[in-house]
Amino acid sequence: MNLFNVYPLFNIHPIKAQGSFLWDDKGEKYLDFYGGHAVISIGHNHPRYQTQLKKQLDKISFYSNSVQNELQTELAEKLGKLSGLEEYNLFLCNSGAEANENALKLASFHNGKNKVLYFSGSFHGRTSAAVSVTDNPKIVAPVNYDERFIKSEWNNVEQLEEAFEKHGSEISSVIIEGIQGVGGIIIPMMGFLTKIKELCEKHDVILILDEVQSGYGRSGYFFAHQEFGIEADIITTAKGMGNGFPIGGVLIHPKFQASNGLLGTTFGGNHLACAAAIAVLDVMKDENLIENTKEMGAYIENEIKDFPHIKTIRRKGLMIGIELDRDCSEVRKTLLYNHHIFTGNSNDKAVLRILPALNIKKEETDIFINALKEVLENI
Ligand SMILES: Cc1ncc(COP(=O)(O)O)c(C=O)c1O
Repeated sequence: MNLFNVYPLFNIHPIKAQGSFLWDDKGEKYLDFYGGHAVISIGHNHPRYQTQLKKQLDKISFYSNSVQNELQTELAEKLGKLSGLEEYNLFLCNSGAEANENALKLASFHNGKNKVLYFSGSFHGRTSAAVSVTDNPKIVAPVNYDERFIKSEWNNVEQLEEAFEKHGSEISSVIIEGIQGVGGIIIPMMGFLTKIKELCEKHDVILILDEVQSGYGRSGYFFAHQEFGIEADIITTAKGMGNGFPIGGVLIHPKFQASNGLLGTTFGGNHLACAAAIAVLDVMKDENLIENTKEMGAYIENEIKDFPHIKTIRRKGLMIGIELDRDCSEVRKTLLYNHHIFTGNSNDKAVLRILPALNIKKEETDIFINALKEVLENI
C-alpha cells in the first residue's frame, strides 16, 4: 500500500529530537524554529515529559470515557490554574479541528440557532463545520459550502455590525482565532475583539476563541485573547497542549449546561494523552515558560528588525510573522538546506512563520538570527 500523497515533503528524515534540535538519519543536526506547526511547546523529548509518559505507559494507556479517570481531573485543575480560567469546564478531544467542531455544536445546542460568523483569512481545521468557517476555497469541498456560514472581513467593524444587523437573530456563534496563524500571524486590532464581544452579548451569540495555535503560552499570555481583557464563552485548544501527543480541549464557560451524551469521543482524554498534557503544564509552570516566551520573542524581534528585505514583523510572544518584500519560499529553503533551520510559511506567501519552542534559549535564537541575516543579505 502507498501513502495517500497529500503533503509536499522536504527530503529530510528526522529520527531523533531533543529540546529545539532534530537529527536526521545521516546524523545531521537541525534547529527547530517552527515546532512542527506550533506543536512543540516545551521542547522535543523534555526529560520530564518523557518520564511522565513512560511512567503512565507502565500503568495504563487507555480506557474509554465510561470510567473515572483522575488524570482528566488533574489536567483540568492544572489548566484552570495556569490559564486563570478556573471556573470554566473542560471537554477533552483529539485535535484542533475536533475542538472547534464541538465548540460550534455546543454553541448551537445552547442557543438553538444555526448560523456561524467567521473571518477572512481564518483557518479552523479540516473537518466539516471547521472547514466551512475556514477562508480557503482550495480546502473547502462542495459538501461543506453552506449559506449558514457567513464571512466577515477581519478587523472591519462596519462589516461586522452589518452582518449582526442582518443575521443577528440567526447567528449561533462567532468563531475567531486569538491571532491568525495560517493566515500569516495577523493580530486583531485594538478594540476588534471587544466589539465582537459586545455584539455577541447584545444578540445572544456565543463567542468562540480558537486558541489552537495562539494558545498555551505562545503569545506571551496563556491565551492570546486574554491580553485584550475579554471573556470568551468557549475556548478551543490543541497543538502545544500535548507537545506532540494528540490532544485537544474545549474550555466551556459555566453558563453552558452539560448533559449525558451531549458531546463525546472514543480517544479524547485517554490516560496517555492526559499524562502528556499534564507534563506540559508542569513544565510550563515550573520553568516559567510564558516569561521566557515574552523575553525571547522581544529579543528576536529587536535583533532582526533592521535586516534587509523585511517589510514588517508581526509578533506576540513567540508567534512571529516576518513579512518580506518577496515570496519567502527561497529564504525558507536556504535556511533549511544551507543552515539546517526549520521555519514555516503561511497563506501569505511573503510571510515567514516563526514558532519555536517556548523554552528556546538565547544562544539558540542567535543561531537563527545570524543565519537569517546572512540569507537576507545575500538575496
Ligand atoms: C487556529 C487553528 N485552528 C484549528 C486548527 C486545526 O487543528 P488540527 O490540525 O489539530 O485539527 C489549526 C491547525 O493549524 C489552527 O492553526
